[in-house]
Amino acid sequence: MPPLPQSSDNGRLPTPERPFPMSPTSCFDVVVVGAGAAGLFCAGVAGQRGLSVLVLDHAAKVAEKIRISGGGRCNFTNRDVGVGNFLGENPAFCRSALSGYSPQDFIALVERHHIAWHEKHRGQLFCDHRADDIVQMLLRECEAGGVQRWQPCGVKAIRRREDATVRFELDTDQGVVQAHQVVIATGGPSIPKIGATDAGQRWAASFGHRIVPLRPALVPLTFDAAHWAPFVPLAGVSLEVVIETPSCVPVAGKGGKGKGKGPQMAHFTEDLLFTHRGLSGPAVLQISSHWQPGQALTINLNPQQDLAAALKEAKSGSRKQLSTAWGLALGEAAPQRLAQAWLAEVARQHPALQPQAALAELKDRDLDALGQAANAWQLVPSGTEGYAKAEVTAGGVDTRELHQQSMESKLVPGLHFIGEVVDITGWLGGYNFQWAWASAMACARAL
Ligand code: FDA
Repeated sequence: MPPLPQSSDNGRLPTPERPFPMSPTSCFDVVVVGAGAAGLFCAGVAGQRGLSVLVLDHAAKVAEKIRISGGGRCNFTNRDVGVGNFLGENPAFCRSALSGYSPQDFIALVERHHIAWHEKHRGQLFCDHRADDIVQMLLRECEAGGVQRWQPCGVKAIRRREDATVRFELDTDQGVVQAHQVVIATGGPSIPKIGATDAGQRWAASFGHRIVPLRPALVPLTFDAAHWAPFVPLAGVSLEVVIETPSCVPVAGKGGKGKGKGPQMAHFTEDLLFTHRGLSGPAVLQISSHWQPGQALTINLNPQQDLAAALKEAKSGSRKQLSTAWGLALGEAAPQRLAQAWLAEVARQHPALQPQAALAELKDRDLDALGQAANAWQLVPSGTEGYAKAEVTAGGVDTRELHQQSMESKLVPGLHFIGEVVDITGWLGGYNFQWAWASAMACARAL
């Protein structure tokens, strides 16, 4: 294999060897706004197709979201990707791009760059060493395509020109730039402290696009402090649960159930994590993308066991206290700290269910109440941790106004939207990056 081109990058370009252009106006075949996952990938492919490409980003550091992703190891894709792993008003939109660029295609690219990777559970693929390996790979691909990158360089305005060939003009911190085609890859506003904004959605709206309202997704859920006080000592406790909520978006595939009238239920079997302010962990991050304010979550703390039946069965001839029987019924999956805190909380509302009560003397209807409360724990979050903690932004540019083969606007020829700026949101587990790669590739092939 020939040696890979080396990147001189330290997170800031242009370097002294490649200064910002001195001419007042520069013209490119393609200007990509946003040097994140989708933008860099699209720029590299378009450059390697022979187009002159400029990628601009207002942040000083390149692709910071990739660098912090997957706990610093970047869950760069998932082996098992389908339309059912994506949310939006019209999730089927992503089918064409996903089938045109598969996880296997991205794995092949990663391997060409000698990046060591491994599979965690549920098909999630991570770098062995560091997420920055993926950033450096994308930068090398850009170099191979002769892509220019100006960073930090803000974009103040994007205008259409009447000119037959040069269709767009961008006012940037480095002067006016002209482009035949523009690709907006600015993601969403989650994690604003690293430069995330809703600029792309606002530009889309200014060009007449409908924006599906934005909301934080893959985000921890919070509860009213007084309501949550009994559970604060459980911060750090984690267990596998089944979690459900009526979905605010159409649900397809493995994450949803229930057909016909009425809201569809989204449901996941994943780990739940108690925090000081509420709930997190994969189960809650997944369900948060479907949750809407005011809706209850239903959590089954022991999906393996009908807890009421187990308690009633254990009752005959037993000399156990309720707290002991309850700990056994909840099983090893639930830490005893959780079992006892839970029982104490239920006992406050059902005086018969005192932890010291003799199991044999308890009425079946009280045991039914206890068991059902844990097999279907109902609770209403007061909110989310917001964009400061959200892994992604749901909502975005309405897919009905984009061509699914090219990501080009149906309203403004030559204008494209890729990645998270579009109303397509992946599940937790590498799906959001796969959408970034696949939408970027669909666009780059069509430029
Ligand atoms: P991305 O956010 O990557 O890039 C957008 C770029 O646009 C940024 O560089 C930004 O600076 C720039 N920009 C914004 N406004 C601008 C403006 N006005 N002018 C110029 N530039 C502008 N997904 C996954 O699949 N696996 C994972 O492991 C993780 N882990 C993860 C962890 C954390 C903490 C977060 C926050 C997110 C994840 N994700 C993830 C989600 C994933 O990072 C995300 O979906 C993709 O980065 C989206 O790629 P985009 O290119 O669309 O946006």
